[in-house]
Amino acid sequence: MRRPILAANWKMHKTAAEALDFAYAFAPRVDGATHADVVVAPPFTALDRIGRVFAGHGIALAAQNVSPEAEGAFTGEVSARMLVDLGCRYAIVGHSERRTLFGETDALVARKAAALLAAGIRPIVCVGETLEQREAGRTFEVLSAQVEGSLAQVPRERAEDLVLAYEPVWAIGTGRTATPAIAQEAHAFLRTRLVARFAGSAERIRIQYGGSVKPENVYDLMAQADIDGALVGGASLDPVAFARIVRFEAEKGASR
Ligand code: PGA
Repeated sequence: MRRPILAANWKMHKTAAEALDFAYAFAPRVDGATHADVVVAPPFTALDRIGRVFAGHGIALAAQNVSPEAEGAFTGEVSARMLVDLGCRYAIVGHSERRTLFGETDALVARKAAALLAAGIRPIVCVGETLEQREAGRTFEVLSAQVEGSLAQVPRERAEDLVLAYEPVWAIGTGRTATPAIAQEAHAFLRTRLVARFAGSAERIRIQYGGSVKPENVYDLMAQADIDGALVGGASLDPVAFARIVRFEAEKGASR
């Protein structure tokens, strides 16, 4: 059994003070939720402040990015060691916004994932096809190449520390969620790629779905065999909505 992992990706939202308001509203709502790993990825600037609140509630802190470099003259960058120092247990790498808006390649994502693992942080590596690629029948080819390239530096013995996030680009921030069947098809395919890469450990790697996850659709997505969690953007900005997503079992029937 893979332990569910529900993660909030706030992107470039919330000041540290706003993040603290969220933390105080959210933490009590998920106290006692022992069925899943709960992760929040605020902007770098809020990590320290909300990490102190989350620490007492078993909520894991995540960064949204990291430098592939360990240290040095890299103005504006943040290293994995600095994230460890703030209590980060996870970091998102290879999000489609970073790939498309900031030119990140699979090779760079692979280096970032390696830097995180070396520092003891679990990478949440994002992959996903665009609408154009899906309509051209290239989804599996694109996912295959992203998995191979982005995970190139993950040693087999560290495979279980990895979280893979399937985020179809056409579903991100669009309100157009992949149906559970479409998502499961992609997740099952990704699992075959993980098996090819990591053999037996692949069964223990968690694959999150991301793209317009809401309280209303989370249960049906999580009911799929290879969907082990969710990476949530828009709906995670609201403490009530994200707490409902964390307690996805209670949302059974919400979409009907
Ligand atoms: P969304 O974003 O939930 O707002 O679609 C998901 C993501 O980009 O991680």
